[in-house]
Amino acid sequence: SRSHAFYGNAEQAGIRTPPQRYTFFMTFDLTTTQRTELQVLLARWSAAIAQLTKGQTIGQVEPVRDYGVGFDTGEALDLGPASLTVTVGLGLKVFTDTYGLAQHKPPLLRELKQLPSDAMKPELTGGDLSLQACADDPQVAYHAIRDLARIAKDTGAASTRWTVMGFGRASAGKGQSTPRNLLGYKDGTRNIMETADFEKFVWIKDGPAWQRYGSYQVVRKIQMHIENWDTDRVSNQNDVFGRHKVSGAPLSGVKEFDTPDFQKTGADGNLVIPATAHIALAAHENNNGLKILRRSYNYTDGINNVGLLDAGLLFISYQNDPAAFETLQTKLGASDGLNEYISHIGSGIFFVPPAPPVGSYIGGSLFV
Ligand code: HEM
Repeated sequence: SRSHAFYGNAEQAGIRTPPQRYTFFMTFDLTTTQRTELQVLLARWSAAIAQLTKGQTIGQVEPVRDYGVGFDTGEALDLGPASLTVTVGLGLKVFTDTYGLAQHKPPLLRELKQLPSDAMKPELTGGDLSLQACADDPQVAYHAIRDLARIAKDTGAASTRWTVMGFGRASAGKGQSTPRNLLGYKDGTRNIMETADFEKFVWIKDGPAWQRYGSYQVVRKIQMHIENWDTDRVSNQNDVFGRHKVSGAPLSGVKEFDTPDFQKTGADGNLVIPATAHIALAAHENNNGLKILRRSYNYTDGINNVGLLDAGLLFISYQNDPAAFETLQTKLGASDGLNEYISHIGSGIFFVPPAPPVGSYIGGSLFV
């Protein structure tokens, strides 16, 4: 199966990489106050990720000595690399005096504004480090996170905080077919695909050299009220998104990739794509050209305590300024027709440093 190199690109894999089919996302709290322990964790994670993305184990599965405990837990043996990428994010607490790193804080890294539409659960919010493992085999993604969490525990530097398992991609990259989210709509039709847009909207291009080709990762666990949605007329669902359910075409057009016409009016004189439609609010045409990269996944947590389906979207966006997300979410939160059917219940923001040079590790140049 396909393998994505850990070293070799300016940026970390898993952002521009066309979305793999599955994700396992986890955040961690820092539990150490020692700079060197954070350093050891990032170095060990990097070395392990470099191995895992080649489809190799990160230590003995069946130890040579019969009193040995296995290091690699083994469940990904024989599954190959499965296009695995693991993208590492650093939260605000990393850039503090505790670790002697306050002066290195990426200038735009800050807590996201609390928005009126938020319904955050503290246990699904925050985190000092993030790992997004994506792969075409769910067990490969799971194994990567499990063994990286083991390393975190082993170093004593960090403990697990919140996690989401995504079972289906809900975003498209260049050359990919557009998948569907759990509301049944094609998601990722108009996403960032071209290099020029990555350069303009995703990668950090200024500041100290070690931050360049980094990006800001915004993560939202967005619960869907699926049973309500399913009782809604499809014509109303189409108005909520501004697109047709089956074809994915904008209501102003016929084919998926037709450019939406937000001015077009129907025989009744009303806008064909309602002004409160999700795409009308989020489109770059209506936001001074603003774009973000979406790299989201469908998730499920089974059923809740009253027997309703507990599922939604693990929304992940990358942008070179977190304000881009806030601008769009502020607009969506105020008038999106979708709000009746979703709740933002989890949130995190992380700086994703660029890929390290060969032989170094993620964030390594911070400690020089
Ligand atoms: C477009 C679904 C949350 C930003 C779309 C589309 C769908 C969709 C079906 C149209 C297809 C496409 O162009 O990709 C959802 C669902 C969400 C959600 C189900 C929550 C559960 C968000 C959030 C943001 C966002 C939180 C940003 C704050 C966008 C943008 C577009 C888009 C920028 C492209 C609009 C365009 O250029 O036409 N979304 N979305 N979405 N969404 Fe969302």
